[in-house]
Amino acid sequence: MNLILLGAPGAGKGTVSKLLVEKKGMVQISTGDILRGAIKEGSDLGKKAEGFMTRGELVPDQLILDIIEEKLSKEKFPNGFILDGFPRTIPQAEGLKKIMSRLSIKINAAVDLIVDENEIVKRLSSRRTCSNSDCQAIYNVFSKPTKKEGVCDLCGSPVVQRSDETEEAIKVRLNTYKEKTAPLVDYYKNEGLLKSIDANTGSDKVCESIISTIE
Ligand code: AP5
Repeated sequence: MNLILLGAPGAGKGTVSKLLVEKKGMVQISTGDILRGAIKEGSDLGKKAEGFMTRGELVPDQLILDIIEEKLSKEKFPNGFILDGFPRTIPQAEGLKKIMSRLSIKINAAVDLIVDENEIVKRLSSRRTCSNSDCQAIYNVFSKPTKKEGVCDLCGSPVVQRSDETEEAIKVRLNTYKEKTAPLVDYYKNEGLLKSIDANTGSDKVCESIISTIE
C-alpha cells in the first residue's frame, strides 16, 4: 500500500507516519525530514533549502521532485511507502504522477488529516523534535512529553523546537498551506484517491482510522 498523507502543518502527518511504520512496516518518506537532515549536514541541497524553510516558505518544486524520484527509484518498499509532506503543490502532484508512471508504481490513496485550526496552532507551538537528524522523533509538551525533560527517549539527544516554529514562520506556513497545498484535496478527489480522516483525536486513534479506511 502506497500512501500520500495530506494535511496542514501540525496536523500529525509525521506522528501518524511513524505509527504506520511501526504497525505496518511501511517506509516513511518525509521531504521535511530529508531537507532538515541536509541542512544539518551542510550539503548543497541543505544550503539551497535553508532560507525557504526558516521563513516558512516552500522549497522550489523541481528540487523536491528530484529528491523524490531519486528516493523512489533507488529503494525497495516491500510493505509500501508513505509520502509525508509531499506533494505540496499542484505542479508537484503532476510531477509525481509522471514519476509514478516512469517507475510503474501506483499510489493507492491520498489521506487528508483534518484538524481544527486552533488545535493546529496549539500542536505546533508545543511540539519538540529530536535534534539528531537520523532520529527526528516527534514529541509534544502536552500530548507526548519526553520521559526525561529535554532528552529524546529513543536516542538520548537533546529535543528542540524547530527553526520554523516561530510565530511569524507558523503564520507563513499556514497561509502557504491554504494557498498552495489545500487545492490538492480537490485534485486527489478528482483522481478518485481521496480519503478524509478526522484527526482531532489522539494519534493512535487516527492511525487506526487510516488503517481501517485503506484496508
Ligand atoms: P514539514 O516538515 O513537512 O512540515 P509541515 O508540513 O509543516 O508539517 P509538520 O512537520 O510541521 O507537521 P506534521 O503534520 O508532520 O505534524 P507532527 O506529526 O509533527 O516541512 C517543513 C518545511 O520544509 C516546509 O515549510 C517547506 O519549507 C519544506 N518542505 C517540505 N516538504 C516540501 C515540499 N514537498 N515542497 C516544498 N517545500 C517542502 O505533529 C505536530 C505536533 O502535534 C507534535 O508535537 C505531535 O506530537 C502533536 N500531535 C500529532 N498528532 C497528534 C494528535 N493526534 N493529538 C495530539 N497531538 C498530536
